[in-house]
Amino acid sequence: MVQYRRITPNDPLYPGECRLRERVLLTPIGYDINRFREEYPGIDELSEHHIATTKTPGGDRVIGCALLLPSSDREGFGKLTQMAVDPQRRGEGIGQRIVINVESRAFGDLGLQGIYCHAQVNAVSFYEKLGWSREGEKFIEADIPHQCMVIHRPPELSDETDDRMW
Ligand SMILES: CC(C)(COP(=O)(O)OP(=O)(O)OC[C@H]1O[C@@H](n2cnc3c(N)ncnc32)[C@H](O)[C@@H]1OP(=O)(O)O)[C@@H](O)C(=O)NCCC(=O)NCCS
Repeated sequence: MVQYRRITPNDPLYPGECRLRERVLLTPIGYDINRFREEYPGIDELSEHHIATTKTPGGDRVIGCALLLPSSDREGFGKLTQMAVDPQRRGEGIGQRIVINVESRAFGDLGLQGIYCHAQVNAVSFYEKLGWSREGEKFIEADIPHQCMVIHRPPELSDETDDRMW
C-alpha cells in the first residue's frame, strides 16, 4: 500500500527522499543533493516535501516526491519542483496523486492563486493530463529542454465557503 504524507527536512524519511531525487533527477545532470542545496540555498527548508512511501521489511521507503515552494518569485503562485517517482513504480498513478495532494494543499490551506513548474518537455503531457497548461516557449535549464506549466486556482474555490472543502 502506498502512503502519502508531507514531511520536513528533519524527518527520518528525508534522506530517502534525497536519494530518490538524486537517482531520478540530479545524478543524470551531474548533480548530487549537496550541489543542489548549494546552488539553490534554502529551497529544501522553505519548501513543503510531499512524498509517497511504501512499507518494506527495512522500514518505509520513499518512492515518490515533489517539493512545493509556497512563496515563489511569482506573486500568489507556488512553485512545484523536484517531482520524481521511482522508475520501478511508474504508471501506477503515484505521480498524479502527489500533484493532486500538492494542489489541494496549495489551493486549500495555503490559499494560493496558482502553481507553476518548469517541466522537462518529456513530462509535459503528464501535467496536461492533470489540467495544467503550457505557458510561454520552451527553454533550456540544466542543459535540458523545459516548458513552463501552470495551473490556476479553480474559480469555484474563490470564496471562503468553498475553501473549506479542500
Ligand atoms: C513524470 C513522472 C513523475 C510521472 O510519475 P508516474 O507516477 O509514473 O505518473 P502517473 O502514473 O501518475 O501517470 C499519470 C498519467 O500521466 C502519464 N504519464 C506519466 N509519465 C509521463 C511522461 N513522462 N510523459 C507523458 N505522460 C506521462 C501516464 O501515462 C498517466 O496517464 P493515464 O492516466 O492516461 O494512464 C515520472 O515518470 C518521473 O519521475 N519521471 C522522471 C522525472 C521527471 O520527468 N520528473 C518531472 C520533471 S518536471
